Amino acid sequence: MSVADLDGLIAALPKAELHLHIEGSLEPEMMFALARRNRVAIPFASVDEVRAAYRFSRLQDFLDIYYAGAEVLREAEDFADLALAYFDRAAGDNVRHAEIFFDPQTHTARGIPLGVVVEGLLAGMAEAKARHGVSSGLILCFLRHLDEAAALATLREAERFLDRIIGVGLDSSELGHPPGKFARVFARAGAMGLKRVAHAGEEGPPDYVREALDLLHIDRLDHGNRAMEDPALVARLVREGLTLTVCPLSNVKLCVVADMAAHPIPRMLAAGLRVTVNSDDPAYFGGYVNDNFRALAAAGGIGRADLFQLARNSFTGSFLPEADKARHLAAITAVENMPC
Ligand code: ADE
Ligand code: ZN
Repeated sequence: MSVADLDGLIAALPKAELHLHIEGSLEPEMMFALARRNRVAIPFASVDEVRAAYRFSRLQDFLDIYYAGAEVLREAEDFADLALAYFDRAAGDNVRHAEIFFDPQTHTARGIPLGVVVEGLLAGMAEAKARHGVSSGLILCFLRHLDEAAALATLREAERFLDRIIGVGLDSSELGHPPGKFARVFARAGAMGLKRVAHAGEEGPPDYVREALDLLHIDRLDHGNRAMEDPALVARLVREGLTLTVCPLSNVKLCVVADMAAHPIPRMLAAGLRVTVNSDDPAYFGGYVNDNFRALAAAGGIGRADLFQLARNSFTGSFLPEADKARHLAAITAVENMPC
């Protein structure tokens, strides 16, 4: 299949997005608009200047700028607008379901009440469902550069939103902050009936992935690239059928891989890992989910059968009820059976 044909198939395939930080979908134009609306000073004179600053050599370079950008988010309406802008784009990419991360501590540390963040995001998600028919769920992420007591306090505060959050996650600076640091908070979240996911093996070693499995009891692994350095770990991930939410453009932008041609997704698929393709922080890394698929296809790493597998994995790896998964999987099969 030519790259143009693959691009057509990418556009046509229904898909779920399982690794998207909503704060990472803040486009520079919206950053400026919200800075004006909320009278917040930002250290950039123009949208071009913002984009020029998005040159990273490691995760921390990005995180510093990402947390600074989030300063413009103040009111529930800002969070609703942010979510809706993401879903408008995602719907255009044929995303039918998204499980989105948010970082409450980034906002509560600035005096923004958790209720403002959650209610705003939920309003945007409800409008996206009405406008595009896209379903979604919220995953509350703990910042791993902070301590476990802060994560426990955040979870306690979130208890009143329990019926509106599907799970907890772990993100921010990975190196030096192993998953085991958050074992108790993840145990509590599990006892509360929440799903558990964690970033591991993005920059951190394979042992961090093991800790996420053994100490956090994760239901899904975010990134996981560095698991590929450890064949026994890969075999375990395959055996346990764990879904990996991999983010190709993010990996290139943060120098986790040398270039797209060297991206491990083709090897991950060949090893039998249940891999998915996601955008991570699309406003910062150069594209939304279909841009990620197209970049992989253009680099020659994946073909038609891989695209179907990746789209199916996105629904089987989601936290949707089984009946919904079956409905989305049938829609993928319908695309597969279409005459070319
Ligand atoms: N927060 C937002 N994006 C992230 C990433 N790629 N890794 C860790 N924390 C993040
Ligand atoms: Zn991420």
